[in-house]
Amino acid sequence: MEGNEGLRVYKDADGLALAAARLFVELSSEKIKEKGAFTVVLAGGRTPEKLYGLLASSGFKEKVDWANVHFFWGDERCVPPDDPESNYGMAVRTLLKMVPVPPGNIHRIQGELDPAVAAALYEKEITEHFGGAVPVFDLVLLGLGEDGHTLSLFPGTGALAEAKRLVAENYVSSLGSWRVTMTLGLVNRASNLAFVVSGEAKGEALKEALDDKVNPAGLVRPVSGRLLWLVDRDAARLL
Ligand code: 6PG
Repeated sequence: MEGNEGLRVYKDADGLALAAARLFVELSSEKIKEKGAFTVVLAGGRTPEKLYGLLASSGFKEKVDWANVHFFWGDERCVPPDDPESNYGMAVRTLLKMVPVPPGNIHRIQGELDPAVAAALYEKEITEHFGGAVPVFDLVLLGLGEDGHTLSLFPGTGALAEAKRLVAENYVSSLGSWRVTMTLGLVNRASNLAFVVSGEAKGEALKEALDDKVNPAGLVRPVSGRLLWLVDRDAARLL
């Protein structure tokens, strides 16, 4: 990233989660004031749990107009929603069961279905939500894997090269499992993208994404939106 203008380094994981929660509150207020709704794409994995828990806590949950927030997921494991691996299930446990989001505003990927069917249905749900216009999410939250993956776009997997579809099924041989994931073409249209990256183990992948752009995360480049890298000091150790 030229000049690292979107890079913000925080002391530790708590400071990182606080910054990400403040960004969520700020953008939700701005977008709801501007157009009456805030569409956000949640990241999966473990890192966002602290952020989601913070948003559900007093001091934050009162600041969000939950009735006008629409939740989507950037990717999902191909498991039922009550499976411990489910990204949707994690968001319900840490945030959604604690805040008054109307059920119709929660747009989960149906991980329990055949991957290709789940991907096609999700793409349909997204295009319908945006009334057939080009889908532009207000905020896409992203994680970073140690191997440089983001969403479920793992190095060397088919969905990375998907140029037409908004959502694709993706077989991840390194995990021996299927995933459903938003594609780069979809997320790069967002008006705000924010990676949230914590821990020493992500140091190499972060450097590759920011400096060399040789991993899937380095391919996240907004067409016209803003890209932020919210990281803690441990993750930034090689920068
Ligand atoms: C997933 C995520 C994935 C995640 C990274 C980082 O479904 O696993 O969407 O892209 O963000 O693997 O995961 P951690 O936060 O657990 O390190």
